[in-house]
Amino acid sequence: MRRAVCPGSFDPVTNGHLDVFTRASALFDEVTVAVLINKTKKSLFTVDQRIDMLREVVAPLGNVRVDAFHGLLVDFCRDREIPAIVKGLRAVTDFDYELQMAQMNHRLSGIETLFVSTNPLYSYLSSSLVKEVATYGGDVTGLVPPLVLQQLLATLSTQEAT
Ligand code: PNS
Repeated sequence: MRRAVCPGSFDPVTNGHLDVFTRASALFDEVTVAVLINKTKKSLFTVDQRIDMLREVVAPLGNVRVDAFHGLLVDFCRDREIPAIVKGLRAVTDFDYELQMAQMNHRLSGIETLFVSTNPLYSYLSSSLVKEVATYGGDVTGLVPPLVLQQLLATLSTQEAT
């Protein structure tokens, strides 16, 4: 069975991420979306909320599952016999850091990293920009799945109220 992982923070998942999952799911038999548990990084959504949203949005894909991990990605992959990482490359600004991680991960365990070129529709898109725009009342419709939009607005309105 050909397996791959799509790792990330997904705080929250965007349509750019979903595009990468969809393309990975066509290339591999089983794709695991792996959410990094990072207690030191401030996030808008809890890991459980991120996982729930991811599970809903990948449900139509059939061969995509969602899991969480802490520690090294290569250890998570080794435990699950996943030999490949799939990531989206948005622009040249992503390249340096992504290449560095790909090379380090390969050095650590021999795992391969495959990059898919992000759909130009989403090349400027990131979870942090979506959160910033939505926080100040900007319209992020079409940039995140409808379910995520709903939760984003609900979470931000709760924060405003406190
Ligand atoms: O969505 P993000 O925050 O850009 O994703 C970054 C992620 C989770 C892919 C990366 O930080 C990662 O793999 N972290 C796990 C820790 C690890 O393996 N570090 C060594 C990377 S070479």
